Amino acid sequence: MNRSESSSRSLIYPPSTESIARAANALLEGNLVGIPTETVYGLAARGDMESAVDKIFAAKNRPRSNPLILHVADVEDAESLFDIDASGIVAERLKRLQRLWPGPLTVIGPRDRQILDHVTAGGDTVAVRVPDHPVALDLLRELKRLAGRPIPVAAPSANRSNYVSPTTPQHVAEGLGDGVAMVLDGGQCRVGLESTILFLGSESSSPRVLRSGGISAEQLSEALGEVVGAPSRNRFSDSDAAPPEAKEHFVAAPGQFAKHYSPSTPVVLLSNKSGFAEQTSEWQQNTTVPLPRVLRIVFGPLSREVSQGASEVWTLADDGRLERAACELYAALRKADEGQFDRIEVVPCEEKGIGVAIMDRLRRAS
Ligand code: TXA
Ligand code: MG
Repeated sequence: MNRSESSSRSLIYPPSTESIARAANALLEGNLVGIPTETVYGLAARGDMESAVDKIFAAKNRPRSNPLILHVADVEDAESLFDIDASGIVAERLKRLQRLWPGPLTVIGPRDRQILDHVTAGGDTVAVRVPDHPVALDLLRELKRLAGRPIPVAAPSANRSNYVSPTTPQHVAEGLGDGVAMVLDGGQCRVGLESTILFLGSESSSPRVLRSGGISAEQLSEALGEVVGAPSRNRFSDSDAAPPEAKEHFVAAPGQFAKHYSPSTPVVLLSNKSGFAEQTSEWQQNTTVPLPRVLRIVFGPLSREVSQGASEVWTLADDGRLERAACELYAALRKADEGQFDRIEVVPCEEKGIGVAIMDRLRRAS
């Protein structure tokens, strides 16, 4: 073990009662803590203290124009963060969605006036979620107990802006070790992709998915009893700076840029399951340059066909179970990005259920 590995490891605490109390105190004092959730690890700060929220933007190198999700322990605390008197329809939608909490769903609606502009980037809406992870919930409850009132916890994914989200405590310590007081170890994230984000809409507009995730559009439609709009693909062209549209009544998730979640190694989405030889032949024809080291990522069983033209092939789900692939995806992209490959090629998976979110993240990485 080298020094940086051992020092990043010492930041990681087992999820004992003492560690959770320590983390709650660190948050209360305005420090940053890496926390597990069922989706990805979060970089947490108390959401009611400007100086604490500021530390999130600094540690991630995230533009302040990109708003944060507030995390709370239960549906009552979630409801208190919205201005539910603003619209009867919106309040009704929020009620109907509550049965999906705790869970991988973030809801965006009209904000309560108390919420800091630091959190919402000055916009009229707030993003809220109740995470479905026992350690996160224990921490949120302990914080509430210590403070004597609910304190919403602001937490973006605990990666540096534009890199792949973390799904293990080690990912957090490696990427943001300098910035956090500690990281709570809650194991590998169960879902492995960021939460589904739903905008509640208004009296005159339907609810709309802004980011796909562990809760599908079908599940949302069923809970709401109405059709929900789909996210638009590749709305924004680049970078982590919020576009002006994000602040207008037309709500978009500003982090949803075309390019996001990217490893440094180029990621190429192959067009279909066949024709690997043709797709890679361009490189092979030029015999004066060495063959590129190609990693191919697939979502089904390994075969000679899918291995053609690749130096290595990894399957994220040899049984085709996409839930498992989603859970493994970010760890695989990080590992693939350690410098041993010139290119990462991905054979697309079926865009059904969690497959929608997997392909969304892969398009953004490519
Ligand atoms: O699963 C998750 O959602 C994780 C865990 C830690 O909870 N968090 C997460 O946060 O993915 P972050 O900041 O990496 O992504 C949240 C997205 C960003 O694209 C942000 O722009 C958008 O939500 N967002 C937050 N508040 C918003 C608002 N009021 N209006 C529109 N978009 C908002
Ligand atoms: Mg993020």
